[in-house]
Amino acid sequence: MHIRPVKSTDIPAMAETYVETWRDAYRGILPEAYLESMTVAETAKDLAREMSAAGVVSLVAEADEGGAAGLITGGIDRRRDRVYGGEIFSLYVRPAYQRGGIGHQLVTQLVAHINRLDIFTLKVQVLEDNPCRRFYEKLNGVRLACGRIRFADTDLAACTYGWLDTDLIGTTF
Ligand SMILES: CC(C)(COP(=O)(O)OP(=O)(O)OC[C@H]1O[C@@H](n2cnc3c(N)ncnc32)[C@H](O)[C@@H]1OP(=O)(O)O)[C@@H](O)C(=O)NCCC(=O)NCCS
Repeated sequence: MHIRPVKSTDIPAMAETYVETWRDAYRGILPEAYLESMTVAETAKDLAREMSAAGVVSLVAEADEGGAAGLITGGIDRRRDRVYGGEIFSLYVRPAYQRGGIGHQLVTQLVAHINRLDIFTLKVQVLEDNPCRRFYEKLNGVRLACGRIRFADTDLAACTYGWLDTDLIGTTF
């Protein structure tokens, strides 16, 4: 799987991957109406905005048949946490490509990029009802805190996982 920094021409394919993966992962967690209202065009605009912000690292995993098998964005923690300086903002692997090691490779490569920005700690927020939070546990993420967030008119439990040293991110499974 080839993983590389994003070019602006990747954004439409990444937006398709994003919408498809949200509808799959968050079905039964977020309101169906919200998931169905998502559009590739709006998501592309949101992704372009997120990726153009200063210090944001954005990587794409190229699918063999073209398009994006997965994507990750991250950088300096958006709340400027004084302990966990780095943050994964978005991580999505298309359903057909999940459990093939792409998520792990995307995290590993994001970490290599943010280490070059002198960031050696990391955190990520994930919905408690999302079974994919086990992915972060497998990568040795420590569950730091859980709380309630409001999204799409829904009250949701969200947990933060963290790594005090990005070298702790699991490498063997
Ligand atoms: C979470 C996600 C990015 C992981 O990417 P992936 O390519 O599927 O994960 P990997 O193949 O690298 O998984 C590595 C290990 O993590 C664990 N893991 C991954 N997904 C898991 C899941 N849903 N449940 C339990 N364990 C999981 C497994 O131990 C896996 O190794 P194994 O398949 O050999 O058992 C991907 O499944 C995804 O996009 N999910 C939907 C969207 C999402 O939840 N994103 C995160 C939002 S914060």
